[in-house]
Amino acid sequence: MAVQISPSILSADFARLAEAAAAVSNADWLHVDVMDNHFVPNLTLGLPVVESLLKATSLPLDCHLMIEDPDRWAPAYAEAGAGSVTVHAEAAKAPVRTLRQIRAAGARAGFALNPATAVEPYEDLLGEIDMLLLMTVEPGFGGQKFLDVVLPKIRRARALIERHGGQIWLQVDGGVAADTIERCAEAGADVFVAGNAVYGADEPARAVEELRKLAAKV
Ligand code: DX5
Ligand code: ZN
Repeated sequence: MAVQISPSILSADFARLAEAAAAVSNADWLHVDVMDNHFVPNLTLGLPVVESLLKATSLPLDCHLMIEDPDRWAPAYAEAGAGSVTVHAEAAKAPVRTLRQIRAAGARAGFALNPATAVEPYEDLLGEIDMLLLMTVEPGFGGQKFLDVVLPKIRRARALIERHGGQIWLQVDGGVAADTIERCAEAGADVFVAGNAVYGADEPARAVEELRKLAAKV
């Protein structure tokens, strides 16, 4: 499995997002947390900021939609040029249609599960998904403590993915840092979102490389 690092700009200075993107040019993706203050109790940014970011960086954008009614909004992020668009199982009412629309618009289709949402009911959806995102904190804020309770689900998700051909990426998001990333990699994750661990560091690019090394050695 190839390790990929996706720094989350939620932990960056929102007045300097272009600089924040440039600071992690060695990353694989730039993780963009879209929050609507309804699906999660926090409000961040939306399509206009994503459109500006697309012009400001050559990193592909990994848009994580923590919003209600993602069926209505997700395709526009893909059409705008996001490389990956992830919708939540708990919010999507027509996930098959929405995931297909994301793919049809040329982006990778991501499907996210909160810590308490089981992966097994979604096994039949795996053919519609390019990346499964397992939240390792309750979504809404950066800098939270990693939830070990999700580790068994990462293992089960990896097993399901392997049974399905092994092409789907398995992303973890929340509390991923130098002291937790190895556990995630060992359980089967291959795409790692990190907010505080990257933008809280003195040198974000070096933090990306350190996380990458830790995950790759597992
Ligand atoms: C939380 C967001 C995460 C967040 C992770 O709801 O989805 O992407 O930025 O931040 P850290 O890595 O600080 O936990
Ligand atoms: Zn996220």
